[in-house]
Amino acid sequence: MEAIVLAAGKGTRMRSELPKVLHEVLGKPVLGYVLETLVSSGSRKPYVVIGYKAEDVRAFLKNYDAVPVLQKEQKGTGHAVMMVKAVLKNAQGDVLIWPGDMPLVKLETLKKFMEAHEKHRAHASVLSCQQKDPAGYGRIVREDGKFTAIREELDATSEERQIQEVNTGIYLFDKKALASALHKVGQDNRKGEYYLTDTIEILRREGYCVEAFCLAGAEEGQGINSQKDLAMVTQKINEWEIEKHMDAGVTFIAPEQTFVATGVKIGKGTVIYPWCFIEAGVVIGDACKIGPFAKLRRGTIIDDKTEIGSFVEVNRSRIGKNVCAKHLAYLGDAVIGDGANIGAGTITANFDGKNKHQTKIGKKALIGSNTVFVAPICVPDEVRTGAGAVVTCKTSMKKGDVVVGIPAKPISKKKK
Ligand code: UD1
Ligand code: MG
Repeated sequence: MEAIVLAAGKGTRMRSELPKVLHEVLGKPVLGYVLETLVSSGSRKPYVVIGYKAEDVRAFLKNYDAVPVLQKEQKGTGHAVMMVKAVLKNAQGDVLIWPGDMPLVKLETLKKFMEAHEKHRAHASVLSCQQKDPAGYGRIVREDGKFTAIREELDATSEERQIQEVNTGIYLFDKKALASALHKVGQDNRKGEYYLTDTIEILRREGYCVEAFCLAGAEEGQGINSQKDLAMVTQKINEWEIEKHMDAGVTFIAPEQTFVATGVKIGKGTVIYPWCFIEAGVVIGDACKIGPFAKLRRGTIIDDKTEIGSFVEVNRSRIGKNVCAKHLAYLGDAVIGDGANIGAGTITANFDGKNKHQTKIGKKALIGSNTVFVAPICVPDEVRTGAGAVVTCKTSMKKGDVVVGIPAKPISKKKK
């Protein structure tokens, strides 16, 4: 099946220069969520309609197997679909249409929707949901229960505005029916746009079978039109992610005060204390203790029984087993050996203004408070550093040495 994602709008109600679909939810742009669900649904390479700041959206799309299609002027959702000529001219089969600002619709819901569409042999199906507060959404108008039209909020009568069944903006169309209906869509509405939603009334009048399936939960039907919506969606995705981890045996002391991106792995028996921020792709082993107030950034892998405590930021680093970094540290581009103890205030100075460099710290190293490692640097196993040491690549060290000072120098056992 072919798919079209609509992502050309600016998102005026966001009051932001960034295209709406590139706003991030827990470190991943909104559009990424939609594309990933589409890929898992088994749809063919999606066509993504882009327009506002098209080059920025196009650059993001390089991460996906998608075909960008330019809509130079944003004249409405119907107009956006008209731009995807490749789909419309080859009028065989169905096409799925999905707005890029609806990231919460689940794969299971999408599958049920596809099945219902097939079963009813509909020419056009709309995925709908019940919203207690339907403001802002297109209303599903039914006559004697039969779906007849979608009415946009601005064009709706006060009676129609009472309707709580709303359009998620996800549709399945028979391509031939869609192409013929799009020709007839006009701009006679309060926004002066070509509404995709108008195709329903047109098809219905012409005797095509149109259906609205109320399958999505109200939560899934939450779209992003404003910053408030973005925050609500972020909260929801976070809640769902944390629930998955709790089901798999991870303890969260305060789930509402913890942020876990999608695609994070956390082992059994690990405890996540409040106020942690864990980015996409982070891997945490079994029986670890994380936080409170830890920030684990992309590319971080933490092995079993390790403790990352308060105000510790770990970025693109591999942390071994039984490591203890309990307070106030920055570990960036670091590889830390098993059993190392990282004192409070330890910093890996990984950036020289142009490039990032690696810090390797050996097994069972004992790093004194406020040690700075000026990367690139390799610290042998069991090295100890004195409080406040500045260790550079010029600090010559071997296994078990004790280094102190600025820059740090080895000290003999006697002086110690
Ligand atoms: C739309 C629906 C509404 C539905 C809601 C669900 C229409 C007319 N209305 O309203 O019935 O309840 O979605 O989320 O379709 N876009 C383009 N090009 C354009 C205009 C929009 O690509 O010219 C894209 C936007 O980037 C966005 C999507 O289409 O991703 C939907 O546009 P938006 O302006 O958010 O429509 P809604 O007002 O939410
Ligand atoms: Mg919208």
